[in-house]
Amino acid sequence: MNSIKNKIVAAYEELAEHYDRHIDTKPHNAFYDRPNTLAMLPEVAGKTILDAACGPGKYAEILLSQGASVTGFDISPKMVHLAKQRNGLQGDFFVHDFSQPLTQLEDQSFDMVLCALALHYVEDWSVTIREFYRVLKSRGILVLSIEHPFYEYTFFRSEQYFSVENVQCIWRGFGIPVEVNSFRRPLEACLGPLTDHGFYIDKLVEPKPTAEFANYDPKHFQELNQFPAFLCIRAIKKN
Ligand SMILES: C[S@@+](CC[C@H](N)C(=O)[O-])C[C@H]1O[C@@H](n2cnc3c(N)ncnc32)[C@H](O)[C@@H]1O
Repeated sequence: MNSIKNKIVAAYEELAEHYDRHIDTKPHNAFYDRPNTLAMLPEVAGKTILDAACGPGKYAEILLSQGASVTGFDISPKMVHLAKQRNGLQGDFFVHDFSQPLTQLEDQSFDMVLCALALHYVEDWSVTIREFYRVLKSRGILVLSIEHPFYEYTFFRSEQYFSVENVQCIWRGFGIPVEVNSFRRPLEACLGPLTDHGFYIDKLVEPKPTAEFANYDPKHFQELNQFPAFLCIRAIKKN
């Protein structure tokens, strides 16, 4: 593993239990990312869904409760342990780095792939998106949430919009300060890997927080109503 990836894994190993403890109600997840990203999915009952970079399995918990069959993976062994713990005997979770081929999963075995708030941890998306394409059935649905490229550009004070850059910041929202590395990129580099690898973009949403967000964090509620921090994308496998 390269050194930035090592740092990302170490950060999530350190964060995992705190993340799990906060994930049900942490406003950016519970009242901003999840409602908007889940709204991109059609009816999930009876569908097979791959939850890529599943974290502690909160999305999986919701999808399982709605009657989906869920397989999830994450690069952090602690996150995978927590996802199993949260979901009991339901779902199938394993450790995997999605910059590598998903050799354990068959071609065309999923109706949908969900990947929430995780692609910015991978410098080059091409293997990941190719694998999402391979495991999806024909006309399968890929739903992504990512950090909004315009938000990242200003937040990280970038001066090179067109580059893919390693950036880092200290997260304090999960109860302990942890340095988190990621890769910011221009909008074109978020959509290009999808359209270059057999998907068309079906829907793009610049989300707004739900009203409940304001009860937990009025300052960010106001900010997110003025400028988006995340971007939700629905892409369809062409054939
Ligand atoms: C912000 S969390 C999102 C978790 C979950 N999708 C959610 O929204 O609740 C990002 C997750 O991406 C995982 N991750 C980071 N790099 C990864 C990689 N290369 N392969 C798989 N998972 C990765 C982290 O371990 C972490 O669990």
